[in-house]
Amino acid sequence: MTRWIGTSWKMNKTVSEARSYAHDLRSALEQRPELLERVQPFLIPPYTALTTVAQELGPSSTRTVRLGAQNAHWEDSGAWTGEISVPQAADAGATMVEIGHSERREHFGETIETTRLKVASTLRHGLVPLLCIGEPAEVQERGETSEYLLDQARGALRGLPEDQLGRVLIAYEPIWAIGAQGRPAKVAELREPFEVLSEEFSGKVQALLYGGSVSADNAAALLGIPGVEGLFIGRAAWSLQGYLELLSIAAATEKP
Ligand code: PGA
Repeated sequence: MTRWIGTSWKMNKTVSEARSYAHDLRSALEQRPELLERVQPFLIPPYTALTTVAQELGPSSTRTVRLGAQNAHWEDSGAWTGEISVPQAADAGATMVEIGHSERREHFGETIETTRLKVASTLRHGLVPLLCIGEPAEVQERGETSEYLLDQARGALRGLPEDQLGRVLIAYEPIWAIGAQGRPAKVAELREPFEVLSEEFSGKVQALLYGGSVSADNAAALLGIPGVEGLFIGRAAWSLQGYLELLSIAAATEKP
């Protein structure tokens, strides 16, 4: 089984920082092909660095690392100041679009309906949507995580034909576990959400990922949770060393 192991840089890295990360990543993977065994790496840089990272990673036909945009509008073009569209992201080299990260839901008004529109546009243009879902701490405390996650995921994926659903990636990222203020989740807390998500989506979507304070210390344990088919990483993969370490943990972790 292929594990999806990738990182979003969020609002970090200049073009030259992005260039050297991507350049060094490509050479590291050429020298250590074992890191790619049953692993699909992906990078989600800020828009300003997409073209540069795409060039560094090589022609898309032979590229081993998938490239994504952190967001994209659902319209193809038009009077939407400050936004970029899926065709523009694709033109810059992206083959994936991250949709509905909790930071976008919290600070930029992303809703279940806008995630649905963005997933549809991403699929229409032949890119892979990486739909992020996750509950706030209060919802977890009330024991309502499963309903909350199913609402977000069903809402964003409503009405998709089987073949399109089969291209979607879902990343479960509990909001309370994300970022420097977050609390790393315990494996026991993630079993039930993944059970519920697997029951509904396993074998129907492309893969289910986990994200939120992933690190070299917990990556193997997280990948061992039934239903987890990849990791979506923030801080721990912002240095190339950190990312390579996580790739090597994933490549070394057997999963039936
Ligand atoms: P983190 O970010 O790994 O830094 O907690 C995860 C995310 O927001 O996807």
